[in-house]
Amino acid sequence: DTSELVDRFGRIARDLRISLTTACSLRCVYCMPAEGLPVVPRNELLSPVEIARLVGIAVHRLGVHEVRFTGGEPLTRPDLVEIVRRSSEVAPGIPLAMTTNGIGLDRHAVALRDAGLTRVNVSLDTVDRHRFAELTRRDRLPAVLRGVDAAVAAGLAPLKVNAVLMRATLDDAPDLLAWAVDRGARLRFIEEMPLDADAAWARDAMVSASELLGVLSTRFRLEPIGRDDPAAPAEEWLVDGGPATVGIIASVTRTFCGACDRTRLTAEGRVRSCLFGDDETDLRALLRGGADDEQIADLWRGAMWMKKAGHGIDDPGFLRPVRSMGGIGG
Ligand code: GTP
Ligand code: 5AD
Ligand code: SF4
Repeated sequence: DTSELVDRFGRIARDLRISLTTACSLRCVYCMPAEGLPVVPRNELLSPVEIARLVGIAVHRLGVHEVRFTGGEPLTRPDLVEIVRRSSEVAPGIPLAMTTNGIGLDRHAVALRDAGLTRVNVSLDTVDRHRFAELTRRDRLPAVLRGVDAAVAAGLAPLKVNAVLMRATLDDAPDLLAWAVDRGARLRFIEEMPLDADAAWARDAMVSASELLGVLSTRFRLEPIGRDDPAAPAEEWLVDGGPATVGIIASVTRTFCGACDRTRLTAEGRVRSCLFGDDETDLRALLRGGADDEQIADLWRGAMWMKKAGHGIDDPGFLRPVRSMGGIGG
């Protein structure tokens, strides 16, 4: 179907990730500089009405099947509930998920669910308070844990927890898994990508999936069960015979770019075809300039057609993207 978001390599993007802001309540070292990212003026961010219009175009003209809000931290936007409500109204029946650090979820989980949010992925790298404060540069672990409990209580299920693999927290991984299993949360570990603001990432220093498996195997019996679906970034293992599972998103050592089904919008309304593709295509100007839905859909298709084959981290001459993860949208 030529109306879908197809690229030169035959991949079709059906998973839309929308960054809502570059602001965040934490400063994770693999994502943000200590001082935070420059504030984007409010009128440069997409409004709830504009976001919902783009969600409608994506779903009704471009074949998008799932929408996720990311950031920065979505919960720092005062109009988040309205964004969710307008988006779910324009695309009823489409799963609407959010990736969040969990801070503030205790106050908003119920309202978000009622507005149409279906599930949340909470980023949490360790349940050791001291190391959490070191890695996020903020002593906010209790707030995150309250957010996780609130999301579970509100029925935002299945709750997934994302942990970026870091040398400093590798020894905490078994405790984190025990904690997640206890709460019925699906934990996934993520290989760190060169998207940190401080450019400290180094290929030979990063923690790999295989190293993590070694650490977890000292405490749990793990059986590989593969991916939920071919385009899912996470490979899963059954923990101690199940039903609990643990996943690994091995973006670096077991690249899954060939099956990528993602298209992204930055908080300023630009299409970003790949995390590692610095060329962005501005939809906001068309939106604000009175273009019709099909013109916007066409520009979006053109942007995705140019998507690169993969992140190229191991290619000679690889260059890191200019923006860090917090600026792109995770
Ligand atoms: P689910 O549908 O809940 O499985 O979501 P997800 O895993 O697609 O989304 P989430 O926001 O939880 O992403 C988890 C991590 O996967 C991110 O933090 C990234 O590290 C990684 N990731 C997500 N999308 C991409 C992508 O397009 N490319 C690469 N290389 N990694 C990605
Ligand atoms: N590499 C991999 N994942 C990252 N995230 C942030 N920065 C990186 C990075 N450099 C993850 C967060 C969160 C999501 C938004 O992106 O942990 O789960
Ligand atoms: Fe897709 Fe680019 Fe991520 Fe690879 S790095 S999975 S191509 S967005």
